[in-house]
Amino acid sequence: MLKLNLLGIAGLCFIASSFMGCTAQKGETPQGAIIDTGFTRASVQFTNMLDTVAKYRTDNKFLPKSVGKDGKNTLSGIYDWTSGFFPGSLWYLYEYSQDQKWKAEAEKWTSFLEPVKDFHGHHDVGFMIYSSYGNGYRLMGNDAYKAVIIQAARSLSKRYNEKVGAILSWDTDKGWQSERGWEYPVIIDNMINLELLFKATEFSGDSSFYKIAVSHADRTLENHFRPDYSSFHVVDYDPETGEVRHRHTAQGFSHESAWARGQAWAVYGYALCYSATGDERYLVQAQHIADYILNHPNLPADLIPYWDFNDPKIPNTYRDASAGAIIASALLSLADMADPEKAATYQDAAVKMLQSLSSDDYLAKPGTNNGFILKHSVGSIPHDNEIDVPLSYADYYYLEALLKYQAILKAGN
Ligand code: GLY
Repeated sequence: MLKLNLLGIAGLCFIASSFMGCTAQKGETPQGAIIDTGFTRASVQFTNMLDTVAKYRTDNKFLPKSVGKDGKNTLSGIYDWTSGFFPGSLWYLYEYSQDQKWKAEAEKWTSFLEPVKDFHGHHDVGFMIYSSYGNGYRLMGNDAYKAVIIQAARSLSKRYNEKVGAILSWDTDKGWQSERGWEYPVIIDNMINLELLFKATEFSGDSSFYKIAVSHADRTLENHFRPDYSSFHVVDYDPETGEVRHRHTAQGFSHESAWARGQAWAVYGYALCYSATGDERYLVQAQHIADYILNHPNLPADLIPYWDFNDPKIPNTYRDASAGAIIASALLSLADMADPEKAATYQDAAVKMLQSLSSDDYLAKPGTNNGFILKHSVGSIPHDNEIDVPLSYADYYYLEALLKYQAILKAGN
């Protein structure tokens, strides 16, 4: 059905092209126009970003993150969880454009993160290294990048506790704290770090990384979800017994609410676990989470979620474009794995999300938005931090989803 529609519109484009100069986009069909729109805008915005960032730091070993209350760009150090996203976006821009300029920038910004391979101060090593070095290795295949990925997996593995069967997200003497006191906080976001572990086993043959990833995914599946398949943000374990102590939020509206980006990490995480293992339980879980999101009565018509599905101020509260971009990317992975009927539902929803994100409502006008691509994301409302701003990871997952969509169109689906 979908293929017939694509052919029908492509045919119209062919006829129209005889009269109106309708040109095929890189996505090959008019549907693919959003891919060109997004990447053309990314090229303009990141050119501006590189100029802007050069004014802030001469050594450049600080990476674009967001925009502060003073309207200036905020930058992250290399050990911040967001450090890999700008290099990763540069890799996506190179992948799309094949322009050597973007390859050189991607290599340069990726190289800043090399010391992160030995870092184990929090769980986000996977986000940081896989977005940057992981994409670099996927595109370049160089051994030096592979070595960084494997060493980073060793570092991340140091945060695994056999008793709990999961990776410790945050050290309890640092970072965000709970009023009840955390002993071994594991957050749903941690699912994304598993990709680094799965890939490290593939690249090294060392199955210990894979086993940690599977154990973490299983413990999270067991303890992080409510009966409706929404996810808690933080599950705090007893590190001596492995028992669950509390289920909390740090960034959501309340402990019982469904923080939108947490749901996004959950669906993305189980889709990647299925892709890495072929274990049907992970596919089923990812589909349940996707269905929870897509059928939620508080999901707006443009399919870009409010920052928390249960904020009582809906509709008078903030959207989170980052959650929309992550969910769109996850749904496009699911569209490649699910049975045909579900695949069509997920693909249609993802494309609608990408159309929304590529509209003036979210896509920055050229030369605005401090060099970021998307507007209207939320970092953490409870911490009064990064509210209704651009975020480097919204841009990263938007570009990733556009590339997945391009691959789907090229395959004729
Ligand atoms: N991983 C942190 C966040 O999603 O805000």
